[in-house]
Amino acid sequence: MEEWKKLLLALGSAAAAGLVSIVLVLRWVLSFREGLGWDGGPAEFNWHPVLTVVGFIFLQGMALVVYRLPWTWGRSKLVMKLIHAGLNLLAFALVVVALVAVFDFHNSANIPNMYSLHSWLGLAAVLLYGLQLVLGIGMFLVPVTPVSWRAAFMPLHVYSGLFIFCSVIAVALMGITEKLIFGLSNPKYKDSPPEAVFVNVLGVILVLFGALILWIVTRPSWKRPSDQLSHILHTRGGGEDSITAGPVLSQLSEESEDIRRRSNRKKTCRCKLKELCNRKTY
Ligand code: HEM
Ligand code: HEM
Repeated sequence: MEEWKKLLLALGSAAAAGLVSIVLVLRWVLSFREGLGWDGGPAEFNWHPVLTVVGFIFLQGMALVVYRLPWTWGRSKLVMKLIHAGLNLLAFALVVVALVAVFDFHNSANIPNMYSLHSWLGLAAVLLYGLQLVLGIGMFLVPVTPVSWRAAFMPLHVYSGLFIFCSVIAVALMGITEKLIFGLSNPKYKDSPPEAVFVNVLGVILVLFGALILWIVTRPSWKRPSDQLSHILHTRGGGEDSITAGPVLSQLSEESEDIRRRSNRKKTCRCKLKELCNRKTY
């Protein structure tokens, strides 16, 4: 299968898994649980799973893959950075409301706060995410930040972003399991009532969503063309022969296409490619 078709298949599957998980979490709280409300009771707690799945998992996942959407490769990097930052900010706002809901519910019902591993790791993930946002804006959106700082910070930004995303999926699985153990009494979780099976499926789909997002974001050949070009040059020694092996070259910008067509003029070509690579924006 052609490379761009594989990318579209992966993107479509990730979006489908994300949307299905949203439908399932809504169905869970609306049909099996007490619905949604803001009264300090269980209906207020239910905003917690809904907003964490919609915001912290789905929107964050979408924010991570925006640079990989082929139809945006012709757009300016600044626009894509604003979309990436905006989606992450929205995800952060929703998870904050999700935390207010669960703390409020605990306080109204006199349940202690922050006793579980789920709550420790969940709060740690939210705090790290906030730090990632502040550093991301400071490094990549403030115009005076030197390009050398941006380039040096980028690997840490990508690593910590993926680390937080994976942690959030693990935290959600813990929360789901806790809720099923606390919430199901007759029949119990171990007796596999329909709600337990339904919510287990939600957990499996969240893992699938996480796996697909991780796959998309870690494929070097699915990067934006200017970034991909730079990756190929740096990893394969910089000759234009190696560049023709790049699997999605057909997607590259007009400028690099032009350079490729004139590949018999080796010296000029190599210079131009290096120049393109140096023009990579952060
Ligand atoms: C409680 C974070 C997802 C179920 C908490 C608390 C935090 C937290 C910080 C402690 C609240 C307190 O002590 O008052 C997160 C984060 C999530 C997430 C960051 C993002 C994925 C979920 C999901 C569920 C869930 C999807 C499924 C129902 C629970 C339950 C509690 C709780 C049952 C109360 C028991 C406890 O404190 O462990 N969550 N949560 N959480 N969460 Fe989550
Ligand atoms: C790339 C995570 C906030 C700017 C990435 C990547 C991840 C990530 C995983 C790699 C994407 C890829 O390779 O396609 C996060 C998370 C954030 C966050 C979890 C919020 C908590 C921000 C903010 C900015 C920003 C606020 C500011 C504009 C960038 C840039 C890239 C990037 C410029 C490089 C894209 C590329 O050239 O391939 N981010 N990010 N990020 N992020 Fe963020």
